Amino acid sequence: MDLAQLKAKLAPLGQAAALRFADSLDPAGKQKLTAQLAALDLDKLPTLIDENVRRKPHVPLPTDIKPVKAYPYRPTEELKDLYDRALVRGHDLLKQGKVGAFLVAGGQGTRLGYDGPKGEFPVTPIKNKPLFQVFAEQLLAHSRDAGKPIPWYIMTSEVNDAPTRAFFEEHRYFNYNPANIFFFQQGMLPAFDMATGEMLLSEKDSLALSPDGHGGSLRAIDKSGALADMKKRGVEHLSYFQVDNPLVHAIDPLFLGLHDLTDSEMSSKTIAKAHALEKVGNFVVGDNVLQVIEYSDLPDSLARQVGPDGQPLFNAGSIAIHALRVSFIERLNHGGQLKLPWHRAEKKVPYVDAAGNEVKPDKPNAVKLEQFVFDAIPLAKNAIVYTTRREEEFSPVKNAQGDDSPATCRRDQVRRAADWLEIAGVKVHRASAAEPAAVLEISPLFATSAQQLKSRNIPFKEIKPNETIYFDESGPVRLP
Ligand code: UTP
Repeated sequence: MDLAQLKAKLAPLGQAAALRFADSLDPAGKQKLTAQLAALDLDKLPTLIDENVRRKPHVPLPTDIKPVKAYPYRPTEELKDLYDRALVRGHDLLKQGKVGAFLVAGGQGTRLGYDGPKGEFPVTPIKNKPLFQVFAEQLLAHSRDAGKPIPWYIMTSEVNDAPTRAFFEEHRYFNYNPANIFFFQQGMLPAFDMATGEMLLSEKDSLALSPDGHGGSLRAIDKSGALADMKKRGVEHLSYFQVDNPLVHAIDPLFLGLHDLTDSEMSSKTIAKAHALEKVGNFVVGDNVLQVIEYSDLPDSLARQVGPDGQPLFNAGSIAIHALRVSFIERLNHGGQLKLPWHRAEKKVPYVDAAGNEVKPDKPNAVKLEQFVFDAIPLAKNAIVYTTRREEEFSPVKNAQGDDSPATCRRDQVRRAADWLEIAGVKVHRASAAEPAAVLEISPLFATSAQQLKSRNIPFKEIKPNETIYFDESGPVRLP
């Protein structure tokens, strides 16, 4: 669409303001704005705005909300056979090349405040490896063990696509074969003026755009050709994880096997919440359908309910780790329509006003809309939830300081390394019950799990206080 066509299209939609400076722009500015507008689904704008900007969408809570029955971390006697078969199935899927890794890294990372894509952030306790490298090493280790490369799909967005690609190139793709990495961008949406529903301009030649939420990944996968690539390669399942959590088992054969054996279209991992009102989504069964209810929507009375064992009944926290069937994503996009709800947030968004002045609002002036990946769960057949442990798999880097910060994440990596070593029969001296007295880092190329570590040769049986030990691909290295 050229400028004239766009003008003709936007005026009847009540969105002519987006082009109010267009005639005065230089060719590059015109091009930029035209491309941004042409990338939007303009025909759907009026409904989107009516339903989500002018009105606050009312999503009724299910009337009947029950706790979810999640698969336990360790199998009960009854589940033992299923878990044994699931582990074998998971490994078979990997050996057959039927699993792809799916990393969503399109977010803005505003809370961390790092100047660049979050995946560049140096996160490990000794080597300061960037998040991207931690995942690359995990995937390389699993590819090596399975004897089959794992195709890696990485979603970026306009805010970080170019620097992300450059970072991978600069680091020689962390030894990953670039032919097995597929970068693609998610969609962007403009912020809308809260009063008028008009799209806001951040500059005269630019909409005030932001990524359309991690749920947008399920549309972008299709639009970008990533889905077609998966089908060409015979990938049937995706292991989904987010860029901020280096503890994630980016590939978990047991989880993948359970997901496949139960014919689940979308499976999720859960952890016990730290306390009843922890700010994480809750897996529940609402009106007989598995779903995530956000912490802000789960009534306190339910959140605080305890069972006969004194444990909270609604204890299944969502940690954004999923397994998805490729055929499910295909079905979700059927007819070019991904029907996930929009989540509305009222924000302070700087903009250029009608007179061309830059305005920095001091109260929320705009609505931003995002889709969330967990909203696909109710649409999935046979969706399951599997329980993992926080210490084992969840310590995201969200904030610069305090909870969920680089400091807590490094601490948790060291703690997990110590736990794994203890399981492997190495005594680790502790400064306190939880805190190892040494600094430890285990490369995923040496071990991706406690079980694998147990099978490795570790030439000592004890780690003394104040030691710093890095386990590289070939074994432990004591550092000064
Ligand atoms: P968060 O919800 O923590 O958002 O994303 P964020 O953008 O990283 O950080 P803040 O809120 O601005 O501080 C969780 C995961 O989802 C991805 C992020 O990259 C991260 O891996 N994400 C989020 C996307 O890929 N796209 C989005 O539009 C939003």
